[in-house]
Amino acid sequence: MSRPKGERVVYLNGRYVPESQAMVPFRDRGFTRGDAVYDATRTFAHRIFRNKEHIDRLYRSLSYLQIDPGLTPVEMMQATVEVAARNTPLLAPDADYWIIQRVSRGLDAPDKAIWGQDGPTVIIECQPLPFRERAPLFRDGIKVFIPSVRRTPPECLSPRAKTQNYLNLILGDLEVRDRDPAAWPILLDMDGNLTEGRGANIFIVRDGVLLTPHERFVLPGISRQTVIEIAETLDLEFKEADIDLFDAYNADEAFITSTSFCVCPIQSINNVAVKSAVIPGPITSKIVEGYRQVVQHDFYGQYLSHLAVR
Ligand SMILES: Cc1ncc(COP(=O)(O)O)c(C=O)c1O
Repeated sequence: MSRPKGERVVYLNGRYVPESQAMVPFRDRGFTRGDAVYDATRTFAHRIFRNKEHIDRLYRSLSYLQIDPGLTPVEMMQATVEVAARNTPLLAPDADYWIIQRVSRGLDAPDKAIWGQDGPTVIIECQPLPFRERAPLFRDGIKVFIPSVRRTPPECLSPRAKTQNYLNLILGDLEVRDRDPAAWPILLDMDGNLTEGRGANIFIVRDGVLLTPHERFVLPGISRQTVIEIAETLDLEFKEADIDLFDAYNADEAFITSTSFCVCPIQSINNVAVKSAVIPGPITSKIVEGYRQVVQHDFYGQYLSHLAVR
């Protein structure tokens, strides 16, 4: 199929098509009900990171929502590799991709025949990572604000599933961005403890101990898990904990983790500065260095290198 020069291709229900020709019927339940899950990995110097771990998490989300994607995990992994390979020639040498799998339950239509589809909708796509927009966050640290909206409790919908329904996190995001467009939200749980924000987990450091919210209340991030493994190799004490605002305001250091950010230092929480005089602080710097080694790529320098680019 022909495509304009420079247009990426996307996997859609078994076919690789140019993005502009990848159409999803308007009766798709992902659109009408948010009835869909997704996962996202990234590349480092054009190599995919932890593809299997992301696909395993995707299939746990699918099991939770009882959606059958019609592909085995191995097939999903292979298609992910194929999407990356087909689109890598479009990347600048210092750029990288998010690679995202999206699976919806499919069509909610009385006559599915007219749509030519009678199963789930499976999409695998990639998008360039936003290095330039985020570069200042790596230099100065992220400002975190706590919105009034609370994170959906696990009794209602498990935050451990990565669903396309992001409304809870979007509401938190809207509130925070209204105060500061560059700030990041971290929502509290119903008991007033930190959980997570739009697409990111949080860690704080207090008295040399690394703390992060309990997995029951958050998405178990692959980057969060990578940091936990790095902490072990560094002999750093690590705990899952209830972290309230008292703990947050007394943090020596804090950082968020996500596939795209990897590890990004936090400058302040509700305008209360973390205690470390330098950003990133000493323990965060060790974690960053460990992360660089795990991914075999200077992700931090890659972000900073985009500071000067206009
Ligand atoms: C709600 C939420 N929390 C945390 C994360 C971080 O997970 P990971 O490190 O696997 O990207 C994500 C990823 O997008 C997310 O959506």
